[in-house]
Amino acid sequence: KSEYNLRPQYLSEYIGQKKVKDNLHIFIEAAKKRNEPLDHLLLYGPPGLGKTTLSTIVANEMGVNIKITSGPAIEKPGELAAILNNLSDNDILFIDEIHRLSTQVEEVLYPAMEDYAIDVVIGKGAGARSIRLDLPRFTLIGATTRVGMLSAPLRDRFGMVDKLEFYTHDDLREIVMRSAEVLGVDIDEEGALEIARRSRGTPRLANRLLKRCRDYAEVCHDGHIDHDVAKAALDKLQVDSMGLDVNDRNILMTMIEKFAGGPVGLDTLAAAVGEDPGTIEDVYEPYFIMNGFINRTPRGRVVTDLCYRHFGLDAFIKDK
Ligand code: ADE
Repeated sequence: KSEYNLRPQYLSEYIGQKKVKDNLHIFIEAAKKRNEPLDHLLLYGPPGLGKTTLSTIVANEMGVNIKITSGPAIEKPGELAAILNNLSDNDILFIDEIHRLSTQVEEVLYPAMEDYAIDVVIGKGAGARSIRLDLPRFTLIGATTRVGMLSAPLRDRFGMVDKLEFYTHDDLREIVMRSAEVLGVDIDEEGALEIARRSRGTPRLANRLLKRCRDYAEVCHDGHIDHDVAKAALDKLQVDSMGLDVNDRNILMTMIEKFAGGPVGLDTLAAAVGEDPGTIEDVYEPYFIMNGFINRTPRGRVVTDLCYRHFGLDAFIKDK
């Protein structure tokens, strides 16, 4: 088996995200029975939770082809028109980072999604006229980390909108065990659970940490990953017990040290740590909020008592 197979190919192999999986299963079976394309699907949530993986699974389950592209990669309306025109009936077009499509390109999508057609303008000025071209009956799967940045007309054209959640430690342990099997890594359940705990609820990260633990186990031990080997390897990588890495800690400690724990505005915080505000909001913050490390208030972000405790800063906790 190759590493490529770390991504599950069918719904039955996909671990976690039960609600999304159950819904997709029903809609896929219904569409197949009627021999229709699946309705357009929007997947959103933090990076690394399986948006692309689920899309390839939908294509496999439907028995159709998938064309994978991204919002920033489609620069002109004509490029999108060409991609759409080259699809076959029931095929899937996957657009990652769909919130980054330009307005002009997005406008091509409206009639394409609604009527499987595009309007092409011929000529210029007063003589210009528009003709409608039919497209194959396709399914659009859009993925985004920021559903709030999608325009309402685009969002409204998706028949299904699903949010991917962070994975539980149990789900991640299972994913690590599965990946270890695919890669031929020798690991036990306790080792897998330790990697799961420190993976920020994210399979992509769990798989990456598994590989680093394998390196450590092969060079510094006999190749077997148990709890202690996983712990030692992850400590060396400076991934802490909650899965926070150097960058996570830098953001939280900046809030504590430079802004007295907040409230601090997103842009101010971003400037202080030298990150892009969007990256803080989409990549770092969802995990902080899910774990109760920070709160969002109308006046900005504040760190919580739990956060102070995690860093052993109990003395900073206000009104105890
Ligand atoms: N590999 C990455 N994500 C996965 C998932 N959700 N289930 C199984 N294997 C995976």
